[in-house]
Amino acid sequence: MTEQTLVLIKPDGVQRGLVGDVINRIERKGLTLAALELREVTVELASAHYAEHSERPFFGDLLEFITSAPVVAMVVEGDRAIAAFRQLAGGTDPVEKAAPGTIRGDFGLATQFNIVHGSDSPESAAREISLWFPSLNS
Ligand code: CMP
Repeated sequence: MTEQTLVLIKPDGVQRGLVGDVINRIERKGLTLAALELREVTVELASAHYAEHSERPFFGDLLEFITSAPVVAMVVEGDRAIAAFRQLAGGTDPVEKAAPGTIRGDFGLATQFNIVHGSDSPESAAREISLWFPSLNS
């Protein structure tokens, strides 16, 4: 089933020059880009995006990090795009959970600096896409 998912290349991925590699992996998988933008993230957008984590102890650090420098936001499209991108990304902890060969497994060392974000369900994808790309109607 064709789906859309929201993918972010976080400030660490942008600053380390991994944008091309991440997009290359997305395209080689067979997924396509429906939208893409390099942008600064406001605290308002970051808080809304990560609302489900607002009670977690790392929430403050997460907001500080995601608003610290530009991110690349993308809408990625294709058959089972949500699960397909999560497979490419690997688990949240780049050392304990992400296998070698995944984006996080290959490039990450710390859970806070795990390079990419991908929506975790169709509901999250719809909510996140409308937050980041309000002018897109899908
Ligand atoms: P992401 O997929 O963007 O969704 C929530 C983010 O919170 C996650 O990736 C991590 O970057 C961050 N995160 C999750 N758990 C922790 C943690 N224990 N410490 C710091 N950051 C975390």
